[in-house]
Amino acid sequence: MKIAFFDTKPYDKQSFEKYATDDLKFKFFETKLNVDTAELARGCEVVCIFVNDTADADVIDKLYEFGVKVLALRCAGYNNVDVKHAFQKIHVVHVPAYSPYAVAEHTMAMLLTSIRRIHKAYIRTRDFNFSLSGLTGFDLYGKTVGVIGTGKIGRVFMDICHGFGMKILAYDKYPAVDAPCEHVELDRLFSESDIISMHCPLTTETYHIIDQKSIEKMKKGVVILNTSRGALIDAEALLDGIKSRKIGAACLDVYEEESDIFFEDFSGHIVDDDTLARLISMPNVIVTSHQAFLTNEALGNIAETTINNIKEITSQGCSGNELCYHCGKTENCKAKRIGKCF
Ligand code: NAI
Repeated sequence: MKIAFFDTKPYDKQSFEKYATDDLKFKFFETKLNVDTAELARGCEVVCIFVNDTADADVIDKLYEFGVKVLALRCAGYNNVDVKHAFQKIHVVHVPAYSPYAVAEHTMAMLLTSIRRIHKAYIRTRDFNFSLSGLTGFDLYGKTVGVIGTGKIGRVFMDICHGFGMKILAYDKYPAVDAPCEHVELDRLFSESDIISMHCPLTTETYHIIDQKSIEKMKKGVVILNTSRGALIDAEALLDGIKSRKIGAACLDVYEEESDIFFEDFSGHIVDDDTLARLISMPNVIVTSHQAFLTNEALGNIAETTINNIKEITSQGCSGNELCYHCGKTENCKAKRIGKCF
């Protein structure tokens, strides 16, 4: 069996290569999967993709024509796959959880970096500038954090915030019963939170959940954290909120238009995306390039689960991590059929 990996980096190869055998051969491509590059998968039974690859209807049709049987996402989010179109053509599996701790800890790392000005202090002291002017931060203890999405990552993030002595307000379409938070409606979360952190998936319902209208409802000086998906936030509205001083700081691990930019080295080049360039130029914005998942533990779990998913589908015709066409869920999917809704 041959697996074509798209959008691969050295750390991907390192974590997957140990699973290669004479019967399981890997082809690693640096390019992202899209309608023009799908051709590279010809002759492979499995295609493995990441967050910024595109598996829309056109791509799925091409892969199906080439005989691809499994589309294995080596990530949790699947907003880049037309699951409905893949129904009865290609099995789609994902990695529902690889380390919620990696993402939640990165979120807190960004928050602390931002509010304690660590990014500025680091640059100053490297230049032997030991001045403290402009580095005043604020305590997290006693502050209110609003968490949107209280699933695996949101839950770990709430536990971390709880440890800091913060008050936690949460909004989730399906509220968790035992979480250390008060479940509230979005409007209250927006108006009472000092910090707002996004941990829900990107869906038609959550697209631009942070926009001009929601920003208007927020406290002046609010800190916005997004380690989930870029399009949860209207980047133009965020920029306006920062320019008007309504938003005190933003920490972004994801960006609406990241797919052609993140994971690549553009130093020495001119980036055409004016909104991203303007955001990065702001002293109170920190951007990391979809890095929150990147720990040794998460990479190991991703490789292990992806290979198991592929083996399950190819040997048994179904996998517990197959995406359900009807409800878009894997866990708690009520479908009794073998192969989920396939
Ligand atoms: P999860 O599925 O465990 O939790 C998502 C939560 O969002 C669930 O509790 C669900 O009920 C809730 N939700 C669904 N629709 C909602 C809505 N309309 N409004 C409010 N809440 C809603 O997922 P997990 O593992 O916690 O991941 C969350 C997100 O984090 C993923 O969807 C993915 O986009 C992102 N992610 C980012 C990574 C990074 O490296 N930056 C790595 C892994 C995931």
